[in-house]
Amino acid sequence: MKPNTKYTYLLESHSTTIYTTSETTMKQNNDNLNPSKDYYQKSNLNLDSWFKVTLIDYQELVKNHQLLKIIDSFADDTITLLDIGCGTGAFPNLLDKRIDSQIKLSCDLLDVSEYCLNQCSSVFNQLKHFQTNEVFASSVENIQTTITKNNYYDIIWAIHSFYTVDIKKIKEILQHIGKMLKPNGIFLMYQASSDSCYSQLYDFYLKNYDSPNKSTKFIVVEDIQETLELLGLQYDLIDFDYNHEIDYEDKDLLEVYLKKCILNSSVDVLDLFKEKILQYFKPENNQFLFKQKTKLIILKNQ
Ligand SMILES: C[S@@+](CC[C@H](N)C(=O)[O-])C[C@H]1O[C@@H](n2cnc3c(N)ncnc32)[C@H](O)[C@@H]1O
Repeated sequence: MKPNTKYTYLLESHSTTIYTTSETTMKQNNDNLNPSKDYYQKSNLNLDSWFKVTLIDYQELVKNHQLLKIIDSFADDTITLLDIGCGTGAFPNLLDKRIDSQIKLSCDLLDVSEYCLNQCSSVFNQLKHFQTNEVFASSVENIQTTITKNNYYDIIWAIHSFYTVDIKKIKEILQHIGKMLKPNGIFLMYQASSDSCYSQLYDFYLKNYDSPNKSTKFIVVEDIQETLELLGLQYDLIDFDYNHEIDYEDKDLLEVYLKKCILNSSVDVLDLFKEKILQYFKPENNQFLFKQKTKLIILKNQ
């Protein structure tokens, strides 16, 4: 992709413009050494297997009444949304079916993976309430230069997408999110906590694998809370607590799961984690139960 150019991608039934960041900023992405950039490609993602285990993350979230109330609270027929780290659109796909009103969400998508941006736009084409507006192929670390809209969005959300963000950039990213939101706009972030299996498995990988792929810190919800508090911003929190379940015999599924948890498909995960995963094994169920603890941050722009 050439830098500084608007690209029109022909997707299934309509065209979408993808804006890339400049050569300099794309270079910064590489310097940031974000493993998500390499990992979120078609060849690595085994989505059917992955969602067999993890769809529960999104099912729990869309069941939450407070979330649905927030969407219903907007009086306009169309509201503006920025989806940071949109991935393949699993969350909007489930949420779409829970919205009773006629509301439309006009969405800008930002993701470091062009593969995910294309997938997410295609998913939106099939949904009743979501439509793609602009698409930004960029890392969120460059959001200040990539998205220069002020007081524009009703909602900005980041769902399971900040794990490999550069910790040094989080403060300025959150400040910029505040600028992009309309007065009374809402920021939502769904992020695993430090006692979740995601965090434990990633930390184990960082400590025990010789050359982990780049990222040196797994960002947990406590890191975001700390920054919000530093900025003096008030927010609400909702706790989610559930398990990722994998049958003991299903080694293929276990392998897919562990590779995605560490965002590295070149590691022999069954060997690396062979001792570690015993702590998650429940003989009474003959299953691995990976405890997932996630929090939803809800911040209203004042
Ligand atoms: C677990 S997936 C997100 C799931 C998605 N939000 C959903 O609702 O289905 C994480 C996404 O965040 C993106 N991502 C990770 N780090 C990023 C960064 N620093 N900047 C932009 N996108 C990032 C990845 O490329 C990936 O698509």
